Amino acid sequence: MNDVRPLAVVTGASAGIGKVFCERLAARRHDLLLVARDGNRLQALKQELEQRYGVGVEVFPADLTVDTDVSLLAETLTRSPNLAVLVNNAGFGTRDALADASPARQEAMLQLHAMAPMRLTQAALPVLLKNKRGAIVNVSSVASFVFSPNNVNYCATKAYLRVFSEGLAAELAGTGVRVQALCPGFTRSEFHRRMGVDASDIPGWMWMSAASVVGASLAALERGWPVVCVPGLRYKLIVLLLRVTPRWLIGRVTGRRIRSM
Ligand SMILES: NC(=O)c1ccc[n+]([C@@H]2O[C@H](COP(=O)([O-])OP(=O)(O)OC[C@H]3O[C@@H](n4cnc5c(N)ncnc54)[C@H](OP(=O)(O)O)[C@@H]3O)[C@@H](O)[C@H]2O)c1
Repeated sequence: MNDVRPLAVVTGASAGIGKVFCERLAARRHDLLLVARDGNRLQALKQELEQRYGVGVEVFPADLTVDTDVSLLAETLTRSPNLAVLVNNAGFGTRDALADASPARQEAMLQLHAMAPMRLTQAALPVLLKNKRGAIVNVSSVASFVFSPNNVNYCATKAYLRVFSEGLAAELAGTGVRVQALCPGFTRSEFHRRMGVDASDIPGWMWMSAASVVGASLAALERGWPVVCVPGLRYKLIVLLLRVTPRWLIGRVTGRRIRSM
């Protein structure tokens, strides 16, 4: 790998929002470390990015719900002096009541959405602080502003990621290292199919492309604000509205939405 170019590490690189982050960062002359479970898809993306952008790309097949995989990746970050961008993006959704849900799957969600990003962020920070530059993007969600029956851990883990990012951004003020909580609304990707929900009745205006979500994230990083990046005017307005909506009403609305999917 060329050690002059900055290195971007993207988790959940094999599909959706993560894949678009890889393409955009390669176009901005970053070398890349691609992380996800599906090694074949990562290899295909590596070839595509190397051919198209002429940057150095390595693959790191890993299941970030597994402690040893997170440890190996954290060590790799610590040993990468050109590390400049970490995108904690890997994630998944579920739609079960907690009493019925697979305990292993719920635990995996907490590992993937909270513990892995926290550990990877901590591993990345010494390098970024030494270089006095760089960025950490934690992919949270508009769901971090609400709570929902049948989705309790998704909203709670995404709220963890957002509040974690806001606190860390304040802690790092003046260091040259930026932190962002990226909070997309409905985004076209493999997310809903993997979750096993029929998302066809979600109105067209509520959908965003992964390209516009990533574009908004990178533009906010370049500007240096806001820390909490909500792509799309419609979702900015929804989040504003949520701040003044009574909490009991939020539960009623999100519960009805999830049950109808
Ligand atoms: N799509 C939306 O509407 C939406 C809205 C708000 C927030 N988000 C968030 O955006 C992020 C990206 O989601 P997406 O929409 O791009 O979904 P996606 O298309 O399903 O992609 C998810 C990515 O995460 C990886 N991944 C899943 N489990 C993993 C694990 N245990 N270890 C390592 N990698 C894993 C997947 O790759 P492998 O299967 O190869 O591991 C894949 O690359 C997620 O954090 C999601 O919560 C999505």
